[in-house]
Amino acid sequence: MQNALVTCENLVKIYSATDVEVVALQGLDLEIAPGEMVALVGASGSGKTTLLNLLGALDAPSAGRCVVAGNDLTRINDAQRTNYRCFTAGHVWQQSGRNLLPELTVAENITLPQMLGGVGGRARDRRTRELMERTGIGLLGAKRPNQISGGEQQRAAICVALANAPTLLLADEPTGELDSTTASEVLELLRDLNRELGLTILIVTHDINVASSADRTIAIRDGRTSTETVRRDAPLAAPIGGAGATAASAVIGLPSETHRESILIDRVGRLQLPNEALVRVPFNGRADVRIFDSHVEIWPEEASATPGAPDYPPPPAPSYPPSYPAPSEEGK
Ligand SMILES: Nc1ncnc2c1ncn2[C@@H]1O[C@H](COP(=O)(O)OP(=O)(O)O)[C@@H](O)[C@H]1O
Ligand SMILES: [Mg+2]
Repeated sequence: MQNALVTCENLVKIYSATDVEVVALQGLDLEIAPGEMVALVGASGSGKTTLLNLLGALDAPSAGRCVVAGNDLTRINDAQRTNYRCFTAGHVWQQSGRNLLPELTVAENITLPQMLGGVGGRARDRRTRELMERTGIGLLGAKRPNQISGGEQQRAAICVALANAPTLLLADEPTGELDSTTASEVLELLRDLNRELGLTILIVTHDINVASSADRTIAIRDGRTSTETVRRDAPLAAPIGGAGATAASAVIGLPSETHRESILIDRVGRLQLPNEALVRVPFNGRADVRIFDSHVEIWPEEASATPGAPDYPPPPAPSYPPSYPAPSEEGK
């Protein structure tokens, strides 16, 4: 990707406690274009928060490369890190207690990062007012966090994160503690801000609605990106594969009419099969690979090891997952 805002290559994060080491990210690759809204999904413990903490420069990578808006996060010094956290990346967490200082009013919470960023008094007040109005909490400036609702707290948190107009917004399950109606309102706000301001957003979520409204959804498994689901520009007339076909997006579960899922392949050719594939097809740790001009097939070894079978039996009619257009005849 040219001019990516975020580039992670072979990113590794190891947490070392007294005598145990946890490899939270094990060679993760990721690129995000400026202005994209990307959802990050994955089981608990798969490394989502770890990744966001690295991208927010709240923690340092153990190995690999991680560059955001020209800042090499593996190399920056403390002063650059402070500057980066103030101006380049904003963070919204699930727990509002982590986003807002309880003893300050909403307006003071939004003003504080601007003070730290050296913004003058008048400009600060104007910016605070604009942000509160834009996010629908224009009348709540004088309230303290415990005097407003959960949804309003997350709106205030978004204002705090955007106070110094960062290029990247990192949101770690920002709607996780909200009821579904409030959650979708906050989500809609993020989507609008993304479009209006060209704000790049990386949002961790369990919510299929968040994933379906994002430009791209990345599934992370065991500290590596495994599959990616991209919204189709034009919905398909009918799902390929016909009635009864499973969702194209087997991992994330989005419909094939609107989304297309791919498995990510890194620079050296490694890929991670979705769990669904491993459950359905008994690979037992190795696979028989057949390379064609247009595609590659991965078969459980027994398929070609059957006695009497030719070395490379002609493959049966391909059962392409419904998200993939069937290859043209000439491609075979
Ligand atoms: N500060 C830490 N010290 C030790 N292990 C950690 C720390 N933070 C996270 N981990 C471990 O790293 C892995 C990834 O955690 P995390 O990034 O929080 O996952 P997720 O956000 O996807 O649930 C987990 O095994 C978790 O227990
Ligand atoms: Mg987490």
